[in-house]
Amino acid sequence: MNNHHESEKSPAKPVRKGLHPKNLHNQGYDFPVLVKSHPPLAPYVKPNAYGELSIDFADPLAVKTLNAALLNRYYNIVDWDIPEGALCPPIPGRADYIHHMADLLEFGLGHEQPSIKLLDIGTGANGIYPLLACQIYGWQCVGSDINPQSLENVATIITNNPKLKDRFTLRTQHDKNHIFEGIIQDGEFFDVSVCNPPFHASLDEALKGSQRKFNNLARSRGELKATTQSPTLNFGGMGAELWCKGGEQLFLKKLIRESQEYATQCRWFSSLVSKADNVKPAKKLIRKLGAVDVREIEMKQGNKITRILAWTFM
Ligand SMILES: C[S@@+](CC[C@H](N)C(=O)[O-])C[C@H]1O[C@@H](n2cnc3c(N)ncnc32)[C@H](O)[C@@H]1O
Repeated sequence: MNNHHESEKSPAKPVRKGLHPKNLHNQGYDFPVLVKSHPPLAPYVKPNAYGELSIDFADPLAVKTLNAALLNRYYNIVDWDIPEGALCPPIPGRADYIHHMADLLEFGLGHEQPSIKLLDIGTGANGIYPLLACQIYGWQCVGSDINPQSLENVATIITNNPKLKDRFTLRTQHDKNHIFEGIIQDGEFFDVSVCNPPFHASLDEALKGSQRKFNNLARSRGELKATTQSPTLNFGGMGAELWCKGGEQLFLKKLIRESQEYATQCRWFSSLVSKADNVKPAKKLIRKLGAVDVREIEMKQGNKITRILAWTFM
């Protein structure tokens, strides 16, 4: 575990509104420190329009290298990499989810918690939630996915980091219509399950979404429209990572319905919900299925608001 960056003298930066108080990225990114500990980041760091050191967040290689640097510096993960086009997760937001789950389980920082078991539904090629949960809290993690190439990539990350070998295991979901079935084994118990569902309903919708994101970034850099080509490559994850039939809404429905069948095998079920409209029907379904507690946890990162829905039948 590597939580000791607080002692470093870095220039005072405004506290980011909204991130969890325990989030190591509350003060923004300290690029000189990151470059020092991860020199491959150096060529991507330049002053932005406000004269502050930054990277071009529309450049996928720059973002990927920033992630590798953050995981290295703050979470002691080496050689993190993802294939071209794979979803590149913003680390501060993903860490927030894990901290909120620790709150839910009423566990604080400061000591290893190897008895806590986390299940990550759809761990992707990046394996981000288990990587953070292992390294921040010392939890035991299982990651599932339907995509064997994604899991192969996470397996490589685990091989590169032998300390994860006994703490992070991978399981293939062979039926894309199932969530927990075939993954949670007989007699097995998890403390919490997390999920960042595929949110778009079609590849076309996913592409349009990424173009919007891309244009927003261009605008924030003072350009009228994106000058760089190929948003598909720049916002990867265009395969099953970002879309599934029925989109986030249907995925959530499946997740909630199946959670009831595993009600006694996981204390807290949870999922990110990106689309605000999906919250109400999801909560309604959760209550209908007999959950005894439902929580909606709001997370803010910059202007973006997402929420976690968490529920328990215990
Ligand atoms: C939006 S990505 C999330 C990746 C990673 N957890 C993250 O937050 O960056 C959704 C992932 O869910 C996977 N997936 C889709 N259907 C699934 C299912 N039924 N069971 C497990 N994973 C699934 C996709 O392959 C994809 O990797």
